[in-house]
Amino acid sequence: MKVLLINGSPRGEKSNTLKLARAFASGLGETIQQVNLKEKSINHCTGCFSCWSKTPGKCVLKDDMPSLLEDFIRADLVIWSFPLYYFGMPSLVKAFMDRLLPLNHPHMETREDGSSYHPTRYNLSAQKHVLISTCGFPDRKDNFEALSKQFEIFSGSEMVQILCPEGELFSIEALKGKTDAYLTHVEKGGREFAQSGCLSHETSNALEALLVPVGNFKEMANAHWELLESPSASPEKREDKEKQAELFLRQMAACYNPEGLSSPKEELVLEMAFSDPDCTFQLVGDKEICRVEKGISRPCTTRIETSYKNWRDISEGKLQGAQAMMDGLYKVKGDFAVMNSMDVLFGGKVPTPPHSGKKTNMNILLIPWIALWVFLPINPLWGGIAGVLGCTLTALGGFRYKLTGWDRIGQSAVLLLSLIALLGIGGMYLPSLSYLIFGLMWFLSARGKVPLSACYSSEKFGGESALENPLFLKTNRMITDGWGILYLLMAPIAWLLLQSPFKAYTGLINQIGPLLMGIFTAWFQKWYPRRVAC
Ligand SMILES: Cc1cc2nc3c(=O)[nH]c(=O)nc-3n(C[C@H](O)[C@H](O)[C@H](O)COP(=O)(O)O)c2cc1C
Repeated sequence: MKVLLINGSPRGEKSNTLKLARAFASGLGETIQQVNLKEKSINHCTGCFSCWSKTPGKCVLKDDMPSLLEDFIRADLVIWSFPLYYFGMPSLVKAFMDRLLPLNHPHMETREDGSSYHPTRYNLSAQKHVLISTCGFPDRKDNFEALSKQFEIFSGSEMVQILCPEGELFSIEALKGKTDAYLTHVEKGGREFAQSGCLSHETSNALEALLVPVGNFKEMANAHWELLESPSASPEKREDKEKQAELFLRQMAACYNPEGLSSPKEELVLEMAFSDPDCTFQLVGDKEICRVEKGISRPCTTRIETSYKNWRDISEGKLQGAQAMMDGLYKVKGDFAVMNSMDVLFGGKVPTPPHSGKKTNMNILLIPWIALWVFLPINPLWGGIAGVLGCTLTALGGFRYKLTGWDRIGQSAVLLLSLIALLGIGGMYLPSLSYLIFGLMWFLSARGKVPLSACYSSEKFGGESALENPLFLKTNRMITDGWGILYLLMAPIAWLLLQSPFKAYTGLINQIGPLLMGIFTAWFQKWYPRRVAC
């Protein structure tokens, strides 16, 4: 299928609408030819009708249209992508559309429904059209109808139209979570179109939904324009800076999603204490809305201390939040858990349902090793059997839990060590060797991109996205290093214990260290980020 994507936004590659069109195209799974009308020379049709009289099928104007017409004729599918301008198409697109006239014969024919049309000179009966458009208002009604109808008449049949209000939200970095979710539906629409030529009800409904409720959107948009209009002539004036900060927070409050609250009964009081300009605001969010209040009127849930510029840079994605915290660009006091929900509360991120899909479980990694360690010093045969059973049990655990690469490496290593034990070789060295291998796994992974403990604890800290958070990774790197060193030390300790009268209890005694380390880990993974934050 030859697909022609006509980008008619005067913003060219920076178009909001183009993001949707690209998502749709990626769902189609076809190679796309994209034309940016903005970069083409397209004169206005002069209405001379030479293309119907003196030079049939050819326009007398000299510009880029002849090659664009060739592309148009060749296309099996034309994706029209442009913003809504004054309830219709931008003049760029209209100029292009008017210049399609040479493709038609002058004489008129009548459709079955009685309407009139000019037949085409080329066989375009199988050609399909998809219209993708975004607009600035939050409404479809009294906004998109004229354009939608015009395209229906133009294409001669019902066509797929993706008409998305609140289009400017696609360029707000802080709302990427929300807009990306919408783009996923558009991409799905592309896939469905490739299969059936239309969109499913489910996708159509998802595409009908507004990105942000009307009230919030208007508040956000108005705050945005007020921010731009606000007295930039005197950016050094304290009151002006304070006004800017307030408008910015109003925009942030308009993005508020109460689903980010840990319980629906909870009230969030996020205190923003700006050092420059020196002013404090409270964002007070309940189960419905969030409002901005100046000053300190109530006890806060969480207090963030920073400069307005730093906060703005973080919100606009110019600074990575966790990294900025590590660099001391802002401090957090009070309930730190709010920071983990910021993307949902104010960033438009869709909360992940609590039980979606399989989750990792550290016990899957530990059980085969513990089975081996406890029984091996008592008797190699028991140790071998316990190791094999532990591996089998945790492999079956794969039906319930997501197995990580480390689970599989661990199971393979324990299986190998168990077989060696069952063969009666390895003797006294085997327990120490097993601690050494286990310790090395942790120690080496702390040197890699994702430290071992992060593979398991990320579930509690936002899933995959936690792996992009430098503070989360740093905390886990330290924890993983701690566990690695502990188990490396346990190799010689096991060796010494095996020479002592407590030989048979080596495995049990050696669980004291990990038990204490487990308690320390649970405390450290909460304490360390807080320490960095304040
Ligand atoms: C000249 C002009 C006219 C516009 N007319 C409308 C309109 O009638 N209705 C509307 O909702 N938005 C209107 N908008 C807003 C755009 O449709 C909106 O900003 C769109 O998301 C821009 O998309 P783009 O980035 O793909 O160009 C207009 C914008 C401009 C510049």
